[in-house]
Amino acid sequence: MEVFDKASQLLEEIKNTEISSPESLEQFRIKFLGSKSILKDLFGEIKSVPNELKKEFGQRINAVKQAAEEKFQLLKEQFESQTQQSDVSELDLTRPGYSHAIGSRHPVRLVMEEMVEIFKRIGFVVEEDREIEDDWHNFSALNLPEDHPARDMQDTFYISLDPATVLRTHTSSVQVRVMDRQKPPIRILSPGKVFRNETISARSHCFFHQVEGLYVDENVSFADLLQTLQFFAAEFFGSDTKIKVRPSYFPFTEPSAEVDVSCFLCHGEGCNVCKHTGWVEILGCGMVDPKVLENCKIDSKRYSGFAFGVGVERIALMKYGIKDIRVLSENDVRFLSHFKSVVVG
Ligand code: DAH
Repeated sequence: MEVFDKASQLLEEIKNTEISSPESLEQFRIKFLGSKSILKDLFGEIKSVPNELKKEFGQRINAVKQAAEEKFQLLKEQFESQTQQSDVSELDLTRPGYSHAIGSRHPVRLVMEEMVEIFKRIGFVVEEDREIEDDWHNFSALNLPEDHPARDMQDTFYISLDPATVLRTHTSSVQVRVMDRQKPPIRILSPGKVFRNETISARSHCFFHQVEGLYVDENVSFADLLQTLQFFAAEFFGSDTKIKVRPSYFPFTEPSAEVDVSCFLCHGEGCNVCKHTGWVEILGCGMVDPKVLENCKIDSKRYSGFAFGVGVERIALMKYGIKDIRVLSENDVRFLSHFKSVVVG
């Protein structure tokens, strides 16, 4: 039948049409697939086909249509990828590059890293331990038995299901952990996060960071402690920094002291940071109480030690002139990006 021949011819024509440009592809589309295409006309001729052949004819022209569509699609993709490639060759290599958004280290981290660097130079090594502690390591072993009034100095977060488990209130717990597993000489620095159930304000937060130091060996003296802290203060705050040691009380040290440094901003003249006293408090320290050594099975007749604990946020606030402790945990990148250029070590 004539219409069947027409379909076969059309299929041949579709296969043989040479298409070398997007323009000739468009002509192909209009001719074979457009709304007034030859194929449409052929579809119209189904009326003249006897009923028993209608099905076969339908299949035949559908195959023709499919061949046209496939050829069109294939060439379309080829032309598109060619255009993309030629775009690449038109790249302007003289154009200035995009700058990468680099991150910055957090001021709290910067202060901790600087402390670690300084103490490393005199033989201290970093020891870290858990933030969720048991009562023994956070309190009792440090000479703070259950009924000790000094426990009130540190408002504690208890894990409610298990009141013997706490979020550590200080990094002094790491002292106990290390003395438990290591024999003297011990010379460690423990930076880490601590938690206290305190109202959040511009000056205090319910979590902050401390750096704990511990040195235990034969013949460790209070003079060694003072020398070590003097060295740290001069390295951290500047070589002309003086330290002042005031007697204090901590259950885990005897004697205990608090240490001030001469104000690194006004050098003693009086300013807002030192509240016009010329001095700023930076840490608590003392000689490790023999009872604490014994709690960790260290012979207190043979060994002695000193310890100290520094609040990191306080120092970061002073050092970078920050007025509100809360910005340190808000993760506002506009604030954090100020620290991009700070290099440690
Ligand atoms: N743990 C004390 C606190 O959180 C700080 C401290 C004081 C640590 C004296 C010490 C120390 O190691 O000897 O307030």
